[in-house]
Amino acid sequence: MIILGIETSCDETAAAVVRGSGDKVEVLSSVVASQIEIHKKYGGVVPEVAARAHVLNILPVASEALEKAGITPLAPLVRGVDAIAVTVGPGLVTSLLVGVETAKTLAYAWGKPVIAINHVEGHIYANFINVKPKFPTLILTVSGGHTMLVLMKGHGKYKVLGETRDDAAGEAFDKAAQLLGAGYPGGPAVAAAAKLKRSIPPTPLYQGGINLPRPMINSSDFDFSFSGLKTALLYAIQRDKNWKKKIPGYAAEFQQAVVDVLIYKIIKAALKYNCKNIMLSGGVAANVELRNQLKKAVENKLSGVKLIIPELKYCTDNAAMIAAAGYFQARRKKFTLWQKLKTDANKELTN
Ligand code: KG4
Ligand code: ZN
Repeated sequence: MIILGIETSCDETAAAVVRGSGDKVEVLSSVVASQIEIHKKYGGVVPEVAARAHVLNILPVASEALEKAGITPLAPLVRGVDAIAVTVGPGLVTSLLVGVETAKTLAYAWGKPVIAINHVEGHIYANFINVKPKFPTLILTVSGGHTMLVLMKGHGKYKVLGETRDDAAGEAFDKAAQLLGAGYPGGPAVAAAAKLKRSIPPTPLYQGGINLPRPMINSSDFDFSFSGLKTALLYAIQRDKNWKKKIPGYAAEFQQAVVDVLIYKIIKAALKYNCKNIMLSGGVAANVELRNQLKKAVENKLSGVKLIIPELKYCTDNAAMIAAAGYFQARRKKFTLWQKLKTDANKELTN
């Protein structure tokens, strides 16, 4: 089965074609037009600006994805797209609308069914590209818009164990980067600054003295909270007249605080629910310390559990993950009539 995926929930315009058969999904093409350069000067995504860029990008991006997959856009029936999967939420409503309207138009023109995809479900299914996971599996999706720990007992069977009560982990990285003047987007900028700490020989300025909290690490649930961590960083640098000389130290401590909380809760949940696999997804899954430290924690604390992390290009927003989620929904015949397809900016992850 051939699925065209479309993703426009935030600031990446993306289209991809995947082929699914049995439990296997392979990517035939994946095209992403990033808007990072456009939003850099504002220090964050400006919804109206993002939506306008999606309008300009969506048709060239979708055509390129189809062509790279060997499908002629105007004659898709030659080498058929079987269905169109599109992100309907959660996300920025004006951005979502561009993808949804495009999917509806193509569905009408081609006479093909559409599949409504939850963006978080898309991130989860990034782990199913070229891999056949075992259930029950635990997934942490961590990005600029969401931080969610999900138990998955089978395809489409989700139990949300916990989520952030305020800022998403990526959002916290972005705000920390702003406070430290580290750059945009914040996650890679904080990670790069933190890496510098390792290359600087210890001096009195870099040694100790920087201690940030690990919010909710000891809470009895699987929820997260990152806005207090950002405020703690703000107060710490306000108190420290030398902070500008210690940016790598502050970045490293901030990153470690986020990584500690995420890993602690993943291991606790995996033990409680006897998970066979652990998966990571979302933009923050690109964080090298999170990846490496989680790998070690899984090896040391969970015997026989396999850690799955998608390729970097499928961690950040892309449409291959949307098409992959679409394939598994299509297998269960979960189609929507294009006339009934709607955006849902606050969409919940439901079964
Ligand atoms: O999944 P994504 O591309 O978009 C959303 O759905 O939000 O995630 C983007 C987020 C941003 O907040 C960015 O700062 C963060 O992922 N991010 C990182 C890293 N690379 C991207 N955070 C920490 N470390 C990284 N290396
Ligand atoms: Zn995302």
